[in-house]
Amino acid sequence: MYAKLKGTGQYLPLKALSNDELAQYVETSDEWIKQRVGIASRRIASATETVVFMATESARRALEMANISAQDIDLIIVATSSAEDRMPSVASQVQRNLEISTGCPAFDISAACSGFLYGLNLVEQYIKTGFAKRVLLIGAERMSRLMDWSDRSTCVLFGDGAGAVLLEASETPGLLATCIHSEGQYRDLLFVDGGLPKDLFMESGSESIDPVSLKMEGNKVFKYAINMLAEVATEVLHKAGVPASQVDWIVPHQANERIIAGTAKKLGLSMDRVILTLSQHGNTSAASVPLALDDGIRSGKIKPGQLVLFEAFGAGFVWGASLMRM
Ligand code: ACO
Repeated sequence: MYAKLKGTGQYLPLKALSNDELAQYVETSDEWIKQRVGIASRRIASATETVVFMATESARRALEMANISAQDIDLIIVATSSAEDRMPSVASQVQRNLEISTGCPAFDISAACSGFLYGLNLVEQYIKTGFAKRVLLIGAERMSRLMDWSDRSTCVLFGDGAGAVLLEASETPGLLATCIHSEGQYRDLLFVDGGLPKDLFMESGSESIDPVSLKMEGNKVFKYAINMLAEVATEVLHKAGVPASQVDWIVPHQANERIIAGTAKKLGLSMDRVILTLSQHGNTSAASVPLALDDGIRSGKIKPGQLVLFEAFGAGFVWGASLMRM
């Protein structure tokens, strides 16, 4: 049994923040960001555009495309690292917003920018074992809340948004193979800390809260990302028994155009076969792959029957790749 893609959807916040606007707050330039990263603009969520809201809206659009009622979903998984609430999960709040009353399980997964790839691996297994027939998988992030807006080396890179997919059990080939990995020793090269009171249990003192902020040694992360992504993409192709030349589209995690181009080159594929949304979305972490997939499908580039390679790399380090027949 395969997990077959039935629908995709996305939500992007209304406010777009251009490089020129950003340059009014930190010492940067449109030229540097475009050349070194490939971003022109990113979306920034308003107070009401929460992770739960964006996840729900993207899910509604995926359900509409799939022509499936919310009551027919039997598993909800949300990949996120930027939810406003520590509990309940975003997935269970999406379930509430969609008024699903069937008691289907719903939970979040935390795998940074590889969250959607980790999600695909889970969906593959839940569908193969028959545990679930229709799964809603969402990547939703509000990265703007995790930024130190005075740190030009990170704040120019990220954006907010959500992408959703509806996958259904099918005899027809769909998700062909998935690979996921983690190497926890690289934690200090990319992490987000803070957000909780400094004081320990029963300790008196101030009730100050450490500010939340993402810290990254970008150039070190870059070197690992480019190698690991090519390696895991080759691994997933090997697992599925498919040569790279048969891949119609790469839908990569959108962090840096040079990483994306480097990975495509190592696979012997041209940039014409890559879905690129980085320029307008920035890095939306776990949302970036489903957002790019939705763009690829709705723009008519990705067509039924084509072979799509997904790949992502993020904090942990965690990375993964999947191969899917549309
Ligand atoms: N504007 C202008 N100059 C800048 C900016 C900026 N926004 N940011 C950094 N610089 C400067 C630096 O200060 C440095 O100046 P110096 O040479 O005078 O010291 C110079 O630019 C080069 O800095 P580097 O950090 O070496 O720049 P690099 O070319 O590596 O680009 C970047 C930085 C874009 C972060 C890149 O390293 C990258 O994309 N890394 C990988 C990111 C990634 O894939 N992360 C994983 C996913 S994210 C997740 O999991 C949440």
